[in-house]
Amino acid sequence: MLWTYAPVTYQLTFFLLFRQEKPHISSTILPRNMLAVRNHKQIIMTNLSTTYLGLKLKNPIVAASSEMTGTLDDLKKIEAAGAGAVVLKSLFEEEIQMEMEQMKQQMTGRPYVYPETMDYMDNPMEEDQVRKYLRLIKDAKAELKIPVIASINCVSSQKWTYLAAEIEKAGADAIELNMFILPTDFTRSSVDNEKIYHDVVNQVSSEVNIPVSAKVSYYFSDLGPALRRLSETRIKGLVLFNRFYAPDIDIDTMRMTSGHVLSSSSDIHISLRWVAIMANRVDCDIAATTGVHSGSDAIKQLLAGANVVQIASVLYRNGPEYITQMVSDITNWMEKMEFDTIDDFRGKMAQEKSTNPAAWERAQFMRHFRHFVRTN
Ligand SMILES: Cc1cc2nc3c(=O)[nH]c(=O)nc-3n(C[C@H](O)[C@H](O)[C@H](O)COP(=O)(O)O)c2cc1C
Repeated sequence: MLWTYAPVTYQLTFFLLFRQEKPHISSTILPRNMLAVRNHKQIIMTNLSTTYLGLKLKNPIVAASSEMTGTLDDLKKIEAAGAGAVVLKSLFEEEIQMEMEQMKQQMTGRPYVYPETMDYMDNPMEEDQVRKYLRLIKDAKAELKIPVIASINCVSSQKWTYLAAEIEKAGADAIELNMFILPTDFTRSSVDNEKIYHDVVNQVSSEVNIPVSAKVSYYFSDLGPALRRLSETRIKGLVLFNRFYAPDIDIDTMRMTSGHVLSSSSDIHISLRWVAIMANRVDCDIAATTGVHSGSDAIKQLLAGANVVQIASVLYRNGPEYITQMVSDITNWMEKMEFDTIDDFRGKMAQEKSTNPAAWERAQFMRHFRHFVRTN
């Protein structure tokens, strides 16, 4: 009652002195894709959705091709953890050709040996790798809601490309061509090698209507222009860059061994630099891969201009469940920075938009050499 009769100025003073700040809901206690209360007014749903190869993804975390994406069980775990899409483990061109040759052999009765293939295959005598792969696609499409991208590891456009149509028929949402031509054939020029990439993407693209992407390495003599030329084919995406088997030497046994199979976060930099340089300079989407081990790493690649990131090593290290953490970390960061959608910040740090574009091209440590402090 008393309050009702208090002078308006008194009420106003009281209100100004004792008003409670509307509590800011800390992003850390909110579930993913939470409601964010900002400026005491807006209620915004942080939106991580993005498009890649024309497909709609609920977030930009894609499980990269590896054994982790080779069984339906693991694919379900990856989806349950919140991935935006999956790229199935690769079917190797050699496996396809092997199967074709085995069929031929059965028909003619001639013995056949395909030596290069043996290294690649867990079970080289198993005959139906291709059929198994098509079944994996069908099963994944039946069980998962997220896009399923098939992957073919190829080194030529010879004979096998008919299979792209089978992959499409099996229901894959897209095909990723994992291509790698190590430039060690001294009789071939860089132009010859580049032509192989173009032949493969042209041939496969002519066989299917689903989007095709190219996963490549940085072993090109003119990397930037070569990536751009590749993007001007019918591919819808470039995956930058694949990580390969790295030969090493055991000095005690003097035998060849394998270098680190799994990447670490510090391996992100080659890919990060080139995503930033190529963003807005290619006619297709960019997926960043190698060294993305956390939500922060993913954010860096999105800032550089990637549409999505593809992760493998971190799934081996921490299990598929870690995807939940990564998505949550991206969401929390967007909240903190007040970005409502991925497009609000994607490419903000790309070279083309950068206030210091030369920083992406810096190759020498010059300044660091002068001031670098020894740690021992
Ligand atoms: C054990 C293992 C197996 C892989 N198998 C494939 C494969 O079959 N096809 C492919 O395109 N990439 C394959 N990759 C490469 C990954 O898809 C990924 O691009 C690469 O490892 C870089 O990402 P990361 O740093 O997150 O591991 C494999 C990687 C690892 C570690």
